[in-house]
Amino acid sequence: MRLRLAGALAAVLVTAGLATGPAAQAAPHPVRQPTLAGLAERHGRYFGSATDNPELSDSAYTRVLGGEFDMITPGNGMKWYATEPQQGVFDWTAGDQIVDLARSNRQRVRAHTLVWHSQLPDWLTSRQWTASELRAVLKKHITTEVRHYRGKVYSWDVVNEAFNEDGSYRDTLWYRTLGPGYIADALRWAHRADPHARLYLNDYNIEATGPKSDAYYRLAKDLKAAGVPLDGIGFQAHLALQYGYPTTLEDNLRRFSRLGLDTALTEVDVRMQLPATAEKLAEQATWYRDVTAACLAVRRCVGVTIWDYTDKYSWIPAVFPGEGAALPWDEELRPKPAYQALREALR
Ligand code: XIL
Repeated sequence: MRLRLAGALAAVLVTAGLATGPAAQAAPHPVRQPTLAGLAERHGRYFGSATDNPELSDSAYTRVLGGEFDMITPGNGMKWYATEPQQGVFDWTAGDQIVDLARSNRQRVRAHTLVWHSQLPDWLTSRQWTASELRAVLKKHITTEVRHYRGKVYSWDVVNEAFNEDGSYRDTLWYRTLGPGYIADALRWAHRADPHARLYLNDYNIEATGPKSDAYYRLAKDLKAAGVPLDGIGFQAHLALQYGYPTTLEDNLRRFSRLGLDTALTEVDVRMQLPATAEKLAEQATWYRDVTAACLAVRRCVGVTIWDYTDKYSWIPAVFPGEGAALPWDEELRPKPAYQALREALR
């Protein structure tokens, strides 16, 4: 015990640059540096990662997940197919595992997601619903899931990916059957079920200003004016080197702040066409630095979440063939240039 303490003390002293003599040279532990979460906290922000249940048996993986981040998001475990696999039969196994893990690591949870067109159970998509039937199904799902996690999650992505690229409503089961009012309804039901959870709309390709981001701006403004409980807009930020950096991100975040909304970068990754080269990884690093700096520059941008932290578990290669290397840690869990760039941005 004494020895351990002495070692820990030496590590702290080395960090602080105070140690001299043999102990300084022969530091028994690697020099400690603050985590991404620790750095973000100095700015009043969080730094998070998505994670997914199958990865949680990988102890090298969970060590970094538990140490480096202060917010986690279930990549799949709280989606409809997982939580209500049969109508009226709820399964919290996957989501609870993530919430329990967060608690044991003193992390918060960005819960994801209640209303989406994707990853729905077959019972929901394989038949026709009248508007009143579907409304009841949606209300029950939201109410039951949000109640289950009441007091245990920081926020909910209530509606995910509601708009097309041109700013029109996406033609989903929800929109087709219920009309655009499903969004306000979903927010109200979620708020009633957990009045303290921060409620978000979340989407991709809205980082730069443009028709899709403008659609969110108009909707957010209308919802606020109507007194609908909307707290924030989530910018997924699934970026790709070949499409260019969204240079209007900071201004865009700011205009939503001015509506009295929080903003967050919720699913950041920066993919590239494989193979990854040193040049591409360096470019990727500047993008990670710049998106983080953009969030820090806007008062109500509350934090950044990356869509998992290691290329070992990234969703990209499965969905974008030939692309990958999108995250700040490589497949061997070694930090990439992007990791150092994140630290720089947060310093
Ligand atoms: C992804 C998951 O990471 C994958 O494991 C799954 O197969 C598909 O969905 N936008 C979202 C996330 O809002 O829910 C998606 O997550 C990635 C895109």
